[in-house]
Amino acid sequence: MNILIAYTTGAGSTERAARLLQEHLPGAVRANLAEGFPEPSGYDAVILGSGIWFGKIGKPLRQYLTQYWEVLKEMDKAVFICHALPEETREILRANFSLQMRNSCILVESLGGELDPSRLSAVDRLRLKARKPQLLQMVREGLVPAIDVAKALEFAKTFRDTVDPPEVVFDQKTRRLVEVRQ
Ligand SMILES: Cc1cc2nc3c(=O)[nH]c(=O)nc-3n(C[C@H](O)[C@H](O)[C@H](O)COP(=O)(O)O)c2cc1C
Repeated sequence: MNILIAYTTGAGSTERAARLLQEHLPGAVRANLAEGFPEPSGYDAVILGSGIWFGKIGKPLRQYLTQYWEVLKEMDKAVFICHALPEETREILRANFSLQMRNSCILVESLGGELDPSRLSAVDRLRLKARKPQLLQMVREGLVPAIDVAKALEFAKTFRDTVDPPEVVFDQKTRRLVEVRQ
């Protein structure tokens, strides 16, 4: 199974989540959209990912979706986002992905996020203070978000089971049903 994981990242956490998915999707290829746009039609299925900055997905993913929508809309696909405020997930997904996109995806999920306070620039702090004070407050209280590893693994498994379903056979030796893939 030829799977493309195409993502955009500001500070690296979406890339870490993409690596995690790749590790659990044998043969999957990873592509950072900031380095170029891979042709999706060369793949059997696509996973699209982005970090969230002030409620928005990264520009490279927005452009990729526009440029390749005619191809992507027909493909098996899923979306994940990485962000810090779980209470915003629904609204972020609604605001950044069309209903047609969301409805045509196998999965559309947040896999958590990361925020290293020591890497926040003075400008970021000022912008956060003005637009996302709750995020700054969270960081001040030491509530640092993390990638939800269990959710990422579940995401990879569900995606793989949907696009490349295993055959279930009876194993004579263990006398149990087991999943087999060619
Ligand atoms: C300037 C800035 C703005 C952010 N805006 C949001 C936001 O609107 N909502 C949210 O849930 N998280 C927000 N975050 C947290 C990021 O989404 C989180 O750190 C995410 O893991 C970033 O992904 P990336 O490392 O792939 O860029 C923001 C972080 C920064 C530094």
